[in-house]
Amino acid sequence: FDTANREKYRPAYHHTPLYGWMNDPNGMFYKDGKWHLYYQYNPYGSKWQNLSWGHSESADLVNWEHKPVAVKPDGLGMIFSGSCVVDKANTAGFGENAVVAMYTSADVSQMQSVALSTDGGITFATYPYNPVITLESEARDPNMFWNEATGEWNLALAHALDHEMLFFTSPDLKRWTLQSSFGKGLGCQDGVWECPDLFKLKVDGSGEEKWMLICSINPGGPFGGSATQYFIGDFDGKTFTPDRDADGSVPTKWMDYGKDHYATVSWSNAPDGRRTVIGWMSNWQYAAEVPTQQFRSANTLPREVGLFKAGDGRIYASTVPSPEVDALRGKVVKHVSKMSAGRKAKRFALPELCEITLDAASRRGGNMILTLGNDKGEKVVMTYDAANGTLSFDRRESGITDFSQDFPAVTTAPTFTADGKLGLRIFVDRSSIEVFGKDGRFAMTNLVFPRTPYTSLTVSSDRVAQITSLNIYEIKETK
Ligand code: FRU
Repeated sequence: FDTANREKYRPAYHHTPLYGWMNDPNGMFYKDGKWHLYYQYNPYGSKWQNLSWGHSESADLVNWEHKPVAVKPDGLGMIFSGSCVVDKANTAGFGENAVVAMYTSADVSQMQSVALSTDGGITFATYPYNPVITLESEARDPNMFWNEATGEWNLALAHALDHEMLFFTSPDLKRWTLQSSFGKGLGCQDGVWECPDLFKLKVDGSGEEKWMLICSINPGGPFGGSATQYFIGDFDGKTFTPDRDADGSVPTKWMDYGKDHYATVSWSNAPDGRRTVIGWMSNWQYAAEVPTQQFRSANTLPREVGLFKAGDGRIYASTVPSPEVDALRGKVVKHVSKMSAGRKAKRFALPELCEITLDAASRRGGNMILTLGNDKGEKVVMTYDAANGTLSFDRRESGITDFSQDFPAVTTAPTFTADGKLGLRIFVDRSSIEVFGKDGRFAMTNLVFPRTPYTSLTVSSDRVAQITSLNIYEIKETK
């Protein structure tokens, strides 16, 4: 499964198919030391068609081995997104530790189907009594999990055009009972609701536990097109009850403030209580038009999700790169322990593949400006506005942008840093930049297509920015 595909925008350290089209990551599970990743895949071309489950596996979340297509279209239709669980107690009767998948069979209607694997996720046999769930209107992307508290299986299903999520229960992964729906009139209602995920997490620094419901929406994202919203609340095995603000409203929250982060879901059965997620690094506005040929789309870096209470009293999700990502760091090409930046820009050479870490406080409300540039005058401009607590990312002159009118854009994230300490980690690959705030307080993922790689980083400020540390690491190419 090696590939001769060395297109210039092919990522060097992000998961991407060898060739063909990819959208949502789905069906991910961990078993026997392997992280299994499935994805919406067209092996026959680089546009959305013939949807199957492509498959890759990894022992370390950063080097991926490509496996044969795991689930192929059948008489019930294409194979849309879904999930997998490891059925430890053999509740389904398919065998102890069987891997059970549920996905959407998509043809003229959308129905939910089950498949099982007894070889650890390499091949799947479809359940002969499919479909297991049929509804009148479009419903898709079933996400199953074992609920410890109730001793039952749960399933979240996107009632796409009704802008809500449905919750089911089952004793055996085959017979499902609809219990409730959530979301009508709440959150962002502009687009279809897709790709749910639901799990419990501890709130950082407290004994409190909360449930997080992920809900991808398209269109209607904060910067146009696709984006991933989420709700924090409680789930009793049947009903999801969202946290409300003092005035009774339910705030809309975003997992990532870039334009290219969608369909993010977590690995089931992950070790050590981890909640590891990965997202599709594109946007339905232009996913099929990006300037690549033999392949289209990559996934984000793997990330760990947590919860924190912000200054506004609400609970938000944090996302940090998974610890395995640290192993990608090569040598430090620049280390600055202290500097102040003013109007005259300080300039540093950048390797093509790199991680930049930057701890900074911007004094007296000035803007700190980070610019990644190349010799063609193409650039990405990131501006930290300490007074308003925001970081913006401007890719309007980042390189090739004219394949879609929706591509040139500025995205903005709240930094949630009352103390003005930014703590950035910035990952630059051949066609993407991911920015994480201190302790994962925000994430921002954007594609870029520079004609030649960015070779410099400049740091400046319209007042004075204090940089307490700046590091530039080379990043190693992965498999
Ligand atoms: C989300 C989505 C899912 C669907 C899949 C089809 O991007 O629309 O709802 O299952 O893509 O490829």
